[in-house]
Amino acid sequence: MTASDGLGRPVLLGRRPILVTGGAGFIGSNLADRLAREGHDVLVYDALARPGVESNLAWLKSRHPQRISSVVADIRDERGVADAARDAEAVFHFAAQVAVTTSLVTPREDFDINVQGTLHLLEALRKRNRLVPLLFASTNKVYGDLGDVQLEETNDAYVPRDPAIRARGIGEDRPLDFHTPYGCSKGAADQYVLDYARSFGVPTAVMRMSCIYGPRQMGTEDQGWVAHFLIRALEGEPISIYGDGRQVRDVLNVADAVEAYLSAWRRIDAVQGRAFNLGGGPANAVSLRQLLRHVEDLIGRPVDLAFSDWRAGDQRYYVSDTSRAARELELRPPIPWRTGVAALARWLADERGLKGQATRAAARPQAAEALP
Ligand SMILES: NC(=O)c1ccc[n+]([C@@H]2O[C@H](COP(=O)([O-])OP(=O)(O)OC[C@H]3O[C@@H](n4cnc5c(N)ncnc54)[C@H](O)[C@@H]3O)[C@@H](O)[C@H]2O)c1
Repeated sequence: MTASDGLGRPVLLGRRPILVTGGAGFIGSNLADRLAREGHDVLVYDALARPGVESNLAWLKSRHPQRISSVVADIRDERGVADAARDAEAVFHFAAQVAVTTSLVTPREDFDINVQGTLHLLEALRKRNRLVPLLFASTNKVYGDLGDVQLEETNDAYVPRDPAIRARGIGEDRPLDFHTPYGCSKGAADQYVLDYARSFGVPTAVMRMSCIYGPRQMGTEDQGWVAHFLIRALEGEPISIYGDGRQVRDVLNVADAVEAYLSAWRRIDAVQGRAFNLGGGPANAVSLRQLLRHVEDLIGRPVDLAFSDWRAGDQRYYVSDTSRAARELELRPPIPWRTGVAALARWLADERGLKGQATRAAARPQAAEALP
């Protein structure tokens, strides 16, 4: 049912949808599913630019035919963005050019999508005469390559010399230091999102995410490495490692990430204008080598590795200090990485008709060793 607003434009009567940009993508589709399950109407805005994500959208629509609607359009389309945001109750902004590698090839396109696209959304919300929360997916890349963090090298991982960093990880007080066009574009968007709270009172919050993994991830060599490693291993293909494989990340299951976004939205009055580091934290810190060992345990055979040069801006060590997010967003302890990765292996094997390949996952969830 439609009516018109003061300018003669049609407006929806009744419930206002939640806008999820990039809602066909990995994190966006998991969040959209959760919102729909909670009874919200969800408008997915996505250009379907990432290969394979159309299947996520089809999955969402088949699960929630009454709740999920979609606009296939580009975040660079200012008018399209404004139309999609016009009736939104809240906005979760995930649409992005997501790969550092691509940003080095086409930096202007990366800028247009990540900075201008975000500005289109912010402007649409600033011009609304009601306060509409916006939650933004930022990245740990805003802290640069952390080259000043002194590291020790063990057999299979980098470990910080500083016991405080080792125990807690990298906090939000770390100075911003954008590296690579992707780091610059996401970092600029991150700052615009925070400033729209400061300058205009738009209720926004920023999640600086480390590595998120889980079902519906179309992992490739360029982005989504946990899923990518599992897919290659399950299919018996070799895996390229850039650098020495000792680089460490804190991985977080997408179910926990979704919980954090929802929690920030519910508490937006208290957390607006704030940024949170969101990852698995020190308990879920794992090097590429350690993750690969776990993958080998899960599939029951060794994987072929090919080592290449380090990639630009690659952090040797990044682990989020999640204490602010845990405290202020009242988050439960995250799913342990071995359990989550085993579940993802089973999901990927099922999706790809490789049943039986990942069954050891259930049998040996504690097979890999802990980080030293
Ligand atoms: N996955 C992670 O570990 C991680 C870590 C840090 C930050 N992030 C950020 O989280 C967000 C979601 O990441 P993801 O892993 O779900 O990625 P994803 O690639 O699965 O999702 C991004 C979605 O955006 C869409 N998209 C791309 N360009 C678009 C455009 N020009 N207009 C409209 N839609 C467009 C894609 O089709 C895709 O569905 C991104 O902003 C990313 O930078 C992700």
